[in-house]
Amino acid sequence: MKLFLDSANIEEIREVAGWGVLDGVTTNPSLCSKESAGFEENIRAICALTPGPVSAECVSLQADAIVPEARALAKLAPNIAVKIPVGVEGLKAAKRLAAEGIAVNMTLIFSAGQALLAAKAGARFVSPFIGRLDDVSEDGMALIDEIVQIFDNYDIKTEVIVASVRHPRHVIEAARLGADIATVPFGVMEKLVRHPLTDIGVERFLADWRKVKK
Ligand code: G3P
Repeated sequence: MKLFLDSANIEEIREVAGWGVLDGVTTNPSLCSKESAGFEENIRAICALTPGPVSAECVSLQADAIVPEARALAKLAPNIAVKIPVGVEGLKAAKRLAAEGIAVNMTLIFSAGQALLAAKAGARFVSPFIGRLDDVSEDGMALIDEIVQIFDNYDIKTEVIVASVRHPRHVIEAARLGADIATVPFGVMEKLVRHPLTDIGVERFLADWRKVKK
C-alpha cells in the first residue's frame, strides 16, 4: 500500500520524505490555509519534494469553471493531481479533464455509489473520508471494504485513497482491506513508527551493552 502525507506543511513533508516512505501528498483548502507561504509557491515546493502525486484542490463549483482552474493547477508541476469534490458538476469536469490526461482525485466521497460514478467519469483516485464517517457514528472502514470489492469485481483501475485518517489502526485496516493508498496526517505517521516496547528494548540493549567486556 502506498502512503501519502495528508499535509500542506513543507517541513512535515520533507521529514517524512527523509524516512524513505513517502509516495505522495494530499492537500486541501483547510490544510493550505494553515501555511504562511502563498498557495502556488507552496504547492510547487511540495511537488519538488514529493516522488509521487500531489493533490491540489479546485474551489470552483461549476464544471465550466472547475476545468480551467484544474488546468492551471496541473501546470504548476508534472506530478499534480487535481482534487475535485464529487457531485454532478465535479463528474462533468472529471470526464473532460481525464480526456486531457489530467489526473483527478475525486474527493469528499462518503458512499460507494459516489466512488463508482467517480471511477466511471475517469477519476484516477477516489478519496473516501473515513474519519468523518466515524465521527457521525457510521463505519468508515466498511465503506473502504465496499469500494475495494466493487473496484476489484470490475477490475477498475481508479485507486482508492483512504482519507480522513485519525489513528494508526485506520492505516492498518486500510492495508488489510487492500486499499491502494492511505493519506496520513503527520501526527499519525509518527504514531505508526513508534512503539513503547521498541523504546524499552533499545534502552535495555544499551544498558546491557555497557556491561559487555571490551
Ligand atoms: O485531505 C482530506 C482529508 O484527509 C481530511 O481529513 O481530518 O479533515 O477529516 P479530516
